[in-house]
Amino acid sequence: MRQIFYFIAILFLLWGCTKKRESEPNIIPLPLKCELTQQQFVLSGSCDITFDAPRDVAENIAEYLKTTILHPHDTKKTGTSNIVFRITDSIPGLSSPEGYKITTDKKSITILSTSESGLFYGCQTILQAIDNEGGMPCGVIIDEPRFAYRGMMLDVSRHFFDKEFVKKQIDAMARYKMNRLHLHLTDAAGWRLEIKKYPRLTQFAAWREHRLWKDWWELGRRYSEEGSANAHGGYYTQEDIREIVKYAAERHITIIPEIEMPAHSEEVLTAYPELSCTHEPYKQADFCVGNEKTFEFLQDVLSEVMELFPSEYIHIGGDEAVKSSWGTCPLCQRRMKEEGLQNVDELQSYLIHRIERFVNSKGRQIIGWDEILDGGLAPNATVMSWRGTEGGMAAVKAGHKAIMSPGTYCYLDQYQDAPHTQPEAIGGYLPLKKVYSYNPIPKDLDSAESELIYGVQGNLWAEYIPTPEHMERMIYPRILAIAEVGWSTPEVKCYDKFRQRALTAVEYLKDKGYNPFDLKNETGNRPEADNATDHMAKGKKVTYHSNAPYYDGYAAGGDSALTDGKRGAWNNNDGVWQGFIKGGIDITIDLEEKKAIHSIGADFMQICNPWIFMPCEVIISASDDNKEYTQLAHIKHNVVKDNTLTFKNFGWKGNTTARYIRYQAKSHCEGGWLFTDEIVVE
Ligand code: ACM
Repeated sequence: MRQIFYFIAILFLLWGCTKKRESEPNIIPLPLKCELTQQQFVLSGSCDITFDAPRDVAENIAEYLKTTILHPHDTKKTGTSNIVFRITDSIPGLSSPEGYKITTDKKSITILSTSESGLFYGCQTILQAIDNEGGMPCGVIIDEPRFAYRGMMLDVSRHFFDKEFVKKQIDAMARYKMNRLHLHLTDAAGWRLEIKKYPRLTQFAAWREHRLWKDWWELGRRYSEEGSANAHGGYYTQEDIREIVKYAAERHITIIPEIEMPAHSEEVLTAYPELSCTHEPYKQADFCVGNEKTFEFLQDVLSEVMELFPSEYIHIGGDEAVKSSWGTCPLCQRRMKEEGLQNVDELQSYLIHRIERFVNSKGRQIIGWDEILDGGLAPNATVMSWRGTEGGMAAVKAGHKAIMSPGTYCYLDQYQDAPHTQPEAIGGYLPLKKVYSYNPIPKDLDSAESELIYGVQGNLWAEYIPTPEHMERMIYPRILAIAEVGWSTPEVKCYDKFRQRALTAVEYLKDKGYNPFDLKNETGNRPEADNATDHMAKGKKVTYHSNAPYYDGYAAGGDSALTDGKRGAWNNNDGVWQGFIKGGIDITIDLEEKKAIHSIGADFMQICNPWIFMPCEVIISASDDNKEYTQLAHIKHNVVKDNTLTFKNFGWKGNTTARYIRYQAKSHCEGGWLFTDEIVVE
């Protein structure tokens, strides 16, 4: 069938003139191989677009082209140049069905692929490579993705974003060859999907008393009846979903729905309290796993979900269950006894296994956040690794697929530039460069395990992101870095060149009505963080007094962290800031010999949401023998809580001589953190 020759003649308007070309094309993600010359194919006058492909493939591509600059203006005239889309059996050197080869000479462009997706991606490459005058460099581009799964997650629960917004993001994803859109459709902040069998999910659980998540979170977390005066939120009707799914499929993007279980389900358990352990609304986040009604509900919901979403994969959440009510709930306890489950982790695993069997029975597969490993992984599950890469590694070592989306590289809700220049975000610091630096294949995997790394995903949680414009600012251009991480081989990647291409992409996106972050005016990292500090104590031994250890999770390299010369970034979790939660800071530095000292100081960070505060008291002392200390400074500080990220140095200046330095700092409250990056001695 595929030999049907399908013919469409398309007239291009406007294009003329040629100009000189760079050898690396301005394409994101960067193709595998480009051998381009200074010559150009120029779309001028009329151009025929022809298909040597099955009719449905030809029709689909032709239909898509109508939405692009290759829009057919006039189908009557036959052109002087031409573009050929051709399906072939194989392309030497390529193994992915999404791969393609473009051969361009002065008269024609030929796109070859073994699949419609490959032709579609070839088309995206041409759309990016053609310059404003219609010039496309002659030569050959051979390309295929590194990973089959190249995803973006949008949290449409914490704030609701309508169907038109989702379709707009799908357009951009297609341009950058991303192929999975994961919608986080359910969470405490609002249920976002019409389920015919459970109308309260959208009549009630989709609406809340405050428009802003932050207000709602801080002011009682109440839901509202749809249509009432203080109802904020929304949901997708089943009709909306069909439209989104179709629109995405036409752009070679699969929508993966996420239905949270057993946790993050306060909205369901307030609408249907009988599904929680205590049957009280507004009290529980976790479904009762002992109650058969829970399974009836989840299976009913998933049945409608699978009707709506043709995706092979259904995301079933699985993250952050509190599990506390299960320990005292008679039904959960009975379930554990009957099933021989040793602990609540195994009870969660029981639910995930059972739901997997149901989903598998419909011919589908489950994805879950990496907590689905706890208590035993369901036999066919794919793990989405978010709490670092360990979950993904454990999954592939056990023979499962993993999608990598570790928070430190892939959580786009973090600040992308200096926090004082940005709207409030959840915290962290994840600039474009860091996203781009990510390699989804951890070093310690062998090749069989690496094969199971299915791909990469950028996640945009929306607690602090109430508007479409703000969402786009957080997505772009960082998702372009995820796109290149997911598609291009590490060998062709270079951040400086990528940044140049991203700058062009930002202008393109602005032109198309998106609201990307203004990359060209990026402030960049905390200035100290870019340059190691050389000082007298650098490399010298630090002794931590046993009453004040650093916290293992924020060790920042351990005992040498405070004298390694490395300075912290805008975020406390950068692996450079050392964190203390118990006993404050109490350390001694041995300078190895008596030295003249003129200053001793340390920077601290304060960001109140995660309980990181300035010290309320700092004492700096010096000694020749590590026995008798002379106090140099005793600083008292009034800790003022606010919403801004601040840095402050606590130090002493003067003239003294000593071999040992003691630096002590106290937190003003129980459970408050202290974070410092270096004790600088000069
Ligand atoms: C998650 O960020 N809780 C998956």
